[in-house]
Amino acid sequence: MGAAQKVVIITGASQGIGAALVKGYRDRNYRVVASSRSIKQSSDPDVLTVSGDVADPKTAERIVSQALERFGRIDTLVNNAGIFIAKPFTDYTDEDYANALATNLNGFFNVTRRAASEMEKQGSGHIVQITTSLVDHANSSVPSVLASLTKGGLNAATRSLAIEYAKKGIRVNAVSPGAIKTPLHGPETHEFLANLHPVGRMGEIRDIVDAVLYLEGASFVTGEILHVDGGQSAGH
Ligand SMILES: NC(=O)c1ccc[n+]([C@@H]2O[C@H](COP(=O)([O-])OP(=O)(O)OC[C@H]3O[C@@H](n4cnc5c(N)ncnc54)[C@H](OP(=O)(O)O)[C@@H]3O)[C@@H](O)[C@H]2O)c1
Repeated sequence: MGAAQKVVIITGASQGIGAALVKGYRDRNYRVVASSRSIKQSSDPDVLTVSGDVADPKTAERIVSQALERFGRIDTLVNNAGIFIAKPFTDYTDEDYANALATNLNGFFNVTRRAASEMEKQGSGHIVQITTSLVDHANSSVPSVLASLTKGGLNAATRSLAIEYAKKGIRVNAVSPGAIKTPLHGPETHEFLANLHPVGRMGEIRDIVDAVLYLEGASFVTGEILHVDGGQSAGH
C-alpha cells in the first residue's frame, strides 16, 4: 500500500488488551508492530512481531528499527506492556520493585524515546499509555503501591510529554482502566472485582480498545488521562 497507510507499535501484544488492540488497529487498516516476550509470528503480512523483554533497551531498538525497515514510518505507539503486583506494602520484595519499575517504567522510556524521535522527524504522532485508575483512588481492599508508583509516573509523564510535544504535532494521552476481564484476573476474582466498580461490573477488553481508538481520532485531545473505570475515579 502507499505511504499513507499508518503504522502503530503496540507493546504487550500477545494477549489481553494488547492482542485486542492489534485487531482494533488492523480493522482501521493500520500496519502493526506487535511486541512481547512470547509473541508468535503472524500470518498477516501487515503485522510484524518483535519478541523481547520491553525492559531491555535492545528490544526497544529492534522494535523501532524493524518498524522503520519494514513499514517506513511510526504514527502511533501504544505503551500497553505492564505488570500488576498487588500486595501490602511491607510484603513487596526487592524483586517485585525491580520488576515493576523495569516493565512499567523502563519499558515506557526505552520504546517511547526512540519512537518519539521518529515522530519528531515526521512532525506527527500519537503516544498512548495504559495506566490504572487505582492511581486516582487507592482502595484498602487492593493494596498495590507499586502500581500507583509506576502507573502514576506514566500519568505524570503523559501530561509532561503532551506539553513538550504540543507544538510538534505529537499528541500524548493515557487510558486509565478499572479492572478489565483479561488473563490478568482469574475467573474466581471476577465477582470481587466487579463489586469494586460503581457500575457493578468489570470492564471488557473492548471498552479499553474503544477508548484508545477514540483518542486516535481525537485530534484536539492531548495530555488526557481518560478513565475507563466504571465510575471508580468519580467516587464510591
Ligand atoms: N486487566 C486489568 O484489569 C488492567 C487494569 C488496569 C491496567 N491494566 C494495564 O493494561 C495493560 C495490559 O493488561 P492486560 O490485562 O491485557 O495484561 P495481560 O493479559 O497480563 O497481558 C500483558 C501483556 O504484556 C506483556 N508483557 C508483560 N511483561 C512484559 C515484558 N517485560 N516485556 C514485554 N512484554 C511484556 C505480556 O506478554 P509476554 O508475557 O509475552 O511478554 C502480555 O502480552 C497493562 O499495562 C496493565 O497494567 C490492566
